[in-house]
Amino acid sequence: MERPVSTPAPALPLVNGARIPHLGLGTWPLDDDGAETSVATAIEGVYRLVDTAENYENERGVGRGLRASGVPREELFVTTKFNRRWHSVDGVREAFERSVERLGVDYLDLLLVHWPNPDQGRYVEAFEGIVALLREGLVRAAGTSNFTPEQLQEAIDATGVTPDVNQIQLNPYIAQTPWREFAAERGIVIEGYSPIWRGRDLLDEPVVAAAAAEHGRTPGQIVLRWHVQLGTVPVPKSADPRRQAENLAVFDFALTDEEMTALSALDRGTELATDPHAFGH
Ligand SMILES: NC(=O)c1ccc[n+]([C@@H]2O[C@H](COP(=O)([O-])OP(=O)(O)OC[C@H]3O[C@@H](n4cnc5c(N)ncnc54)[C@H](OP(=O)(O)O)[C@@H]3O)[C@@H](O)[C@H]2O)c1
Repeated sequence: MERPVSTPAPALPLVNGARIPHLGLGTWPLDDDGAETSVATAIEGVYRLVDTAENYENERGVGRGLRASGVPREELFVTTKFNRRWHSVDGVREAFERSVERLGVDYLDLLLVHWPNPDQGRYVEAFEGIVALLREGLVRAAGTSNFTPEQLQEAIDATGVTPDVNQIQLNPYIAQTPWREFAAERGIVIEGYSPIWRGRDLLDEPVVAAAAAEHGRTPGQIVLRWHVQLGTVPVPKSADPRRQAENLAVFDFALTDEEMTALSALDRGTELATDPHAFGH
């Protein structure tokens, strides 16, 4: 199949010394077979960051895709996340050991606390567990997901370590401005999940269509470019090789300040956002 030519995403520095590709591949809700194919195709199409989670139940397939790509492990950036049952220092070590076994790797580039689960109240211990693995070089970057600024501050105060990454729901409808400002002040890189709002109505917005027409790009590329210009790392999921290539091809054009402002004005605050006080696993 003929596919658009892509070049790898540039990399951004992280506070604890690693570097993260500026765009990656999401793998939810793929099963093992779907993940294997999608990951292998994406890496062939020069993706380097792959995002999975214990909860997606596809880490074995992701691992097969990593190996099928033939790209050396050190060139890849493998991220996974663990569930609430592992929220203790020893628990995180066991979660790590189980994930690397399923993935067939011996270290992770980034490990995330998937959800804070404040009802359980052990998210700080969960981050402490990741910090222990970071100190041993078993994870190259330490992160959180769906953490509020207050929860991040608690984790920083308890460990003295700033998370490299907070992965949050982010797109022009859910612009998360206070969370992004908090992260920017501390050098935390924001990764954006559901970055194109799962291909739904966001891509039909007139300001997205106007920018797409102006730049000769697709609506998905316009929204992903918005993320890149905010300095965040989007992880769009696509199982389609053409859309994978399309989504990565956003580093050779720029939105104007007016276009960025118009896209950011689509923000609907917390109306559509998943509340991490109420949801988690
Ligand atoms: N940390 C967390 O709590 C959390 C929560 C949710 C998701 N995530 C991660 O973030 C990743 C991405 O988020 P997401 O899957 O929710 O949403 P998304 O990436 O915004 O959207 C994915 C959907 O959009 C379609 N799509 C992909 N590229 C497109 C394009 N250029 N134009 C139109 N449609 C397109 C995909 O279909 P095709 O596959 O058919 O292309 C898929 O149905 C997940 O896969 C997962 O790795 C993390």
